[in-house]
Amino acid sequence: MKTVFFIMLSLGLCAVALVAPNQELDFFVPQGWPKPRYNFESNPLSQEGFELGRSLFYDPILSKDSTVSCSSCHLQFTAFAHVDHPTSHGVDSRVGKRNAPGLMNLAWAPYFHWDGGVLSLNGQAVNPITHPDEMGSDLATVLVKLKREKEYAAVFKKVFGTEDIKTQHVLKALAQFTVSLVSYNSKYDRMTRKEVKFSEQEKKGYALFLKHCNQCHKEPLFTNYEFKSNGIGVNTALVDSGRANITGKAKDAFLFRVPTLRNLEYSFPYMHDGRFSKLKEVMEHYAHPANWAFPISTEPVKKKYMLNLAQQKDIIAFLKTLTDKGFLFSPQFGYSSIRE
Ligand code: HEC
Ligand code: HEC
Repeated sequence: MKTVFFIMLSLGLCAVALVAPNQELDFFVPQGWPKPRYNFESNPLSQEGFELGRSLFYDPILSKDSTVSCSSCHLQFTAFAHVDHPTSHGVDSRVGKRNAPGLMNLAWAPYFHWDGGVLSLNGQAVNPITHPDEMGSDLATVLVKLKREKEYAAVFKKVFGTEDIKTQHVLKALAQFTVSLVSYNSKYDRMTRKEVKFSEQEKKGYALFLKHCNQCHKEPLFTNYEFKSNGIGVNTALVDSGRANITGKAKDAFLFRVPTLRNLEYSFPYMHDGRFSKLKEVMEHYAHPANWAFPISTEPVKKKYMLNLAQQKDIIAFLKTLTDKGFLFSPQFGYSSIRE
C-alpha cells in the first residue's frame, strides 16, 4: 500500500514538474537609478514569457509575407537600432518615415516613439506589426499563423494559461523581451560605481557634457523624456512635425522626444530622420548655435556657446564611455527560436 502511494506521489510530482508554472523573473534595477515606470503587475515577467517574447522578436512570421522580423530593424549589435538606412525598411522594401531607435531601458520610459505617440509598451508592437511600411500584417492573420505552430501553442499555454492565443498575449510576450533589455554596464556606469577611472580626455568631455547636454540628455538614462528641438531643422523631404502629430498643437511642431545616448557609438545613424551618420557630424551641429535652424524655442539656443574642435573631441570621448559591450553582445538577448 505504502509503495503504491509512493509511486502515485512520484508520478504526481513528475506531472507537476512537467507543467511547472512560470518561473517568475525579478527585474533588476541598477543602483542609483530611478524607479522603473513600467507596471510589472500588468505583465509579470517570467523566464518562459521572456523566451517566448524573444523568439517572437526574431520571428518573421509576424510580418505579412514572413520576411521581416522585429530584429530586421532592431539589431542587437547596434543597440537594437537600424544601421544601414537613415529611416527604416520594412516589407516590400518599403521605406518608413523615421529612424528606428535603439531599444534599451524601456522600463523607465513614460511613452514611446519619437513623438511619444505610444503610451504603453504592452501595446506598442501593434504598430510595427500592422504598419504598411514595417511588417504590413494584421492581427487576425498573425494569430492564425501562430496557432498553426505547435511549439508556440505549447509555450503560450504555459505563459498565459491558454492555447487560444489572443492578440494581447502576443504583445505582452514581446513586451517581456523588450522591457528586459537593460543596459547598465558601460564604462560610465563602472566609473560611477568607482570600479574604473575616466581618462583625462573623458573627464573633460564629461564636464562639458554636464554643462551643455545633461539638461536634456539627463543621467543616468541620458534623456529627460521631454519633447524638445535641438535645432536641426525640418527635413524638407519628410516634413515630420513630430510631437504636433500627436497633440495637434502648433507649439509642439517639430519637437521630438529627447533620445537616450547610451550605446550611441553603435546605434548610428542619428536623429529621428537618421540625417547624421557620424558623431563628428552631430558635434559639428551642436558646436555652432549660429547654424541652428527653426524652431528656436529651447535652451541651447538661448545660451550662446561655441565648442571648439578639441572640446568636440572630448565630448565624443565621453559619449563613447556609454558603450556597453556586455549588452550589445550578450547571448541572452541574441537570436533564438522555439519553432525549430
Ligand atoms: C521596418 C522597421 C521596423 C520593424 C520591423 C519594427 N520596428 Fe520597432 N521601430 C521602428 C521605428 C521606425 C520606430 C520609431 C517609430 C516612431 O517614432 O514613429 C520603432 C520604435 C519601436 C519601439 C519604441 C522605442 C522607443 O524608445 O520609443 C519599440 C519598443 C519597438 N519599436 C519594438 C518593436 C517590436 C517589438 C517589433 C516587432 C513586432 C518592431 N519594433 C518592429 C522600426 C521598426
Ligand atoms: C534642448 C535639449 C537638448 C540639448 C541641450 C541637447 N540635446 Fe541632443 N537631442 C535633443 C533632441 C530633441 C534630439 C532628437 C532630435 C531629433 O531627432 O529631431 C537629440 C538628439 C541627439 C543625438 C542623436 C541621438 C540618436 O540616437 O539619434 C545626439 C548624439 C545628441 N543629441 C547629443 C547631444 C550632445 C552631445 C549635446 C550637448 C552638446 C546635446 N545633445 C544637447 C535634445 C537636446
